[in-house]
Amino acid sequence: MSFNIAIDGPAGAGKSTIAKLAAKKLSFIYVDTGAMYRAIALGLLRKNTDIENEEALQSALDTIEVGIRYEEGEQHVYLNGEDVSSLIRTEQVSDMTSRSSAKPRVRAKLTRLQRELAARENVLMDGRDIGTEILPDADLKIYLTASAGTRARRRYQEQIEKGMACSLEEIAKDIRERDYRDMHRETAPLRQAEDAIRIDSSDMTIEEVVSEIIKLACFRM
Ligand code: DC
Repeated sequence: MSFNIAIDGPAGAGKSTIAKLAAKKLSFIYVDTGAMYRAIALGLLRKNTDIENEEALQSALDTIEVGIRYEEGEQHVYLNGEDVSSLIRTEQVSDMTSRSSAKPRVRAKLTRLQRELAARENVLMDGRDIGTEILPDADLKIYLTASAGTRARRRYQEQIEKGMACSLEEIAKDIRERDYRDMHRETAPLRQAEDAIRIDSSDMTIEEVVSEIIKLACFRM
């Protein structure tokens, strides 16, 4: 039997950085489900798909294949055999992902893949609906959050460090809009599972959050 940890929470709470570090310490496989949704969104953008048209969406999805592989412990995401790991981090893809991931057809496509992985391996899976929909029986569920202001400042800092021009106000607006869409969509909205442990990382360092998660995991293993 595999041991599964679900980490859900809003964009910018530090999920992927924290989940990656915690998975490494536990020797678990880190599954970034957001990257899978992003790969589908990139496929839809490339095909110029009108995602509001159900038929057009389905026929595009029928030609999109998403896969993940691990290379030196890092997750790489593939779109129809092409490694798109570095192409899926643009604002255009983020925006399309937030819209397309609300579509039940898109979610259905990834649900099976994610459950199969968790059944086979000890995983630490991060996303929005892992504890509520994908792995309702996960051994440990974390809801990782931070205030909207903190998340906007972190994202701003990241962009500045990458040498990208940006405005804190625009990032904050974007975060608020994405939160709203993720939390209010009909299918698999972002919410805290009843049995999830809430960690607010606003005033915590990455190391503090990681060690809290390791402590909780070790307690249950
Ligand atoms: O975690 P991220 O920023 O890479 O996620 C990108 C988008 O995908 C975000 O708008 C929420 C969506 N997503 C989702 O709906 N379900 C998941 N399990 C993971 C991400």
